[in-house]
Amino acid sequence: MKTIALLIGVLAWASAASVDLSKVKRIEDLDQFWEQLDPSLRIHRRTMMAPDDRIVNGEEAQPGQFPYQVAIVSFFQDGSGGLCGGTILTQNFVLTAAHCVFIGSLATHGTVTLGVHNRAVEEESQQRIAHGTIKVHPNYSSTYLRNDIATIQLSTPAVFNEFVQPIDLPAISDDRSFAGLTGIISGFGRTSEESGSSPSDVVMFTSNPIITNSDCLSAFHDEVIQAQNICLSGEGGRSVCQGDSGGPLTVRDNDRSLQVGIASFIHWNGCASGNPSGYVRVSHFLTWIGENSDVVLRN
Ligand SMILES: *[C@@H]1O[C@H](CO)[C@@H](O)[C@H](O)[C@H]1NC(C)=O
Repeated sequence: MKTIALLIGVLAWASAASVDLSKVKRIEDLDQFWEQLDPSLRIHRRTMMAPDDRIVNGEEAQPGQFPYQVAIVSFFQDGSGGLCGGTILTQNFVLTAAHCVFIGSLATHGTVTLGVHNRAVEEESQQRIAHGTIKVHPNYSSTYLRNDIATIQLSTPAVFNEFVQPIDLPAISDDRSFAGLTGIISGFGRTSEESGSSPSDVVMFTSNPIITNSDCLSAFHDEVIQAQNICLSGEGGRSVCQGDSGGPLTVRDNDRSLQVGIASFIHWNGCASGNPSGYVRVSHFLTWIGENSDVVLRN
């Protein structure tokens, strides 16, 4: 049976005391992350963590090219921490995947970095803001990553400028499936095939066609791909990878970027295997996003 791999950034073991945010690895590196999964997925840990992980076969972004992209580092009770992506909803809220902030229990604290191109250095454009209240979808299930969505309130408001801008969400009336459109993915996940490679320091991106859910189902099983998901073709080996979790899948719409997905999982054959990658379908969760942030939804 084909199943999923998680896209999470590896969270490495980091002591909460003096943390260099750039050294934090991906969420998928945490033992407790794997323990909560269905055993049918757990056995794939070795495969999933194999060499080929992150925005694979992508290219480096220009600084400011993705002003809605953030890097999120979250820490858990045992002191472990992990890296994910996310997007800016408003000056007060970012959107991410539930699996980035809930691993058996809610993250205890963390930092959202906005205006970031190279997360390994303190760029002038960066705004590093501590996590405020985290909201995880009440029906989030880590077993098959159902309702894999969360918002993080920023402890102080972000300041918008050319490097820090909110993302557009689909209007409530927008009933497009987005299949056939070009989807753009971005993030700090792994980019190389080298075993044990770290997440990328800089924002990487790539693109591929968005595919229909029925086409996506042929690569996964039906507990994994549901109406709440949207999939991106894996052609050319172009994909999100570990470390990219929680980050955006966007389309160009009226010359603006529209977020249609949140990076959630990859195929267990690996990031660069040519299989589709799976996202939370943003339009399925608009009401929840509206209720768990201060974003004003468009009708
Ligand atoms: C969670 O699931 C329950 C039971 O299916 C449902 O009644 C409820 O509306 C769901 N909550 C959300 C926020 O979707």
